[in-house]
Amino acid sequence: MRPHSHIRDHSRQQLEQRIRRKGAVEHLNFFEQLIPEDREPPKDPKEMRHFEQVAGQLLVAGYEPPAMWFYFTIYHLLKEPLVLETLAKEIRGAFESYSHITPGAAASLPYLTACLKESLRVMPNVLIGMPVVSPGAMVDGTFIPKGVICQSSPFALARSPRNFCEPLRFRPERWLPEEHPLYDTRFANDDRKGFHPFSQGPRMCAGKEVAWWQSRLFIAKVLWTFDLEMVSGQRINMDRDLRGWGMYEKPEDYT
Ligand code: HEM
Repeated sequence: MRPHSHIRDHSRQQLEQRIRRKGAVEHLNFFEQLIPEDREPPKDPKEMRHFEQVAGQLLVAGYEPPAMWFYFTIYHLLKEPLVLETLAKEIRGAFESYSHITPGAAASLPYLTACLKESLRVMPNVLIGMPVVSPGAMVDGTFIPKGVICQSSPFALARSPRNFCEPLRFRPERWLPEEHPLYDTRFANDDRKGFHPFSQGPRMCAGKEVAWWQSRLFIAKVLWTFDLEMVSGQRINMDRDLRGWGMYEKPEDYT
């Protein structure tokens, strides 16, 4: 929390700059929707504070989770050479050149999608889930009184053998459709429908689609371009060395 006031001030400065540049930006971004060119810039301090919050939220939510998603995916691919090989083959077989790799085209690669889903399952970005306050409602036959705070941890759900076969292993096959040649019946009873790393309902992640497009594009382009291997002598053990404090703290010394 220490740099929080610095982040807030920075968001405010960036927001003011962005409002001044209205209508003259090189690339359109989220603020084109929030403060369109034909709308008066916000003047009311309360409205400005709201936009500051939105800017800060987009900055943090839009940077850290995708960055961690890329990081964990590459880590698991390096730990599972056969998976890496299968994925590289799928990507390199699907595109004629680097410039043909687009988010839309990458979305049609089932093994890529399966690897990314598995990465979010093994290391979900929001570890403990977000709290919601019950309005007083029946859930699955149980009455949850008004005011009770409910929260469920995607991390715990994903690692329970009650929900997934071989829960601690990186097994993208569990997400493949039945008609895929690598579909494996061992994972047929996995609770895939119960896993929501982006949450659900009115407060679910606002960037889910953007995050999927970014991640497919990033991993496809990296594996198209590079042959990846773990630096020799590194003994990374993510389960032992990674720290999660709401956000993740990556292990610094891997050797
Ligand atoms: C790996 C990628 C990501 C994951 C796993 C993820 C996950 C989540 C989760 C679990 C929430 C909480 C939902 C709730 O309260 O029930 C959330 C909220 C949010 N996310 Fe993401 N997110 C990701 C990427 C992004 C990106 C790229 C953006 C923006 C470009 C973004 C923007 C937001 C915003 C604005 C909220 C707050 C929504 C609200 O309270 O109305 N997220 N995200």
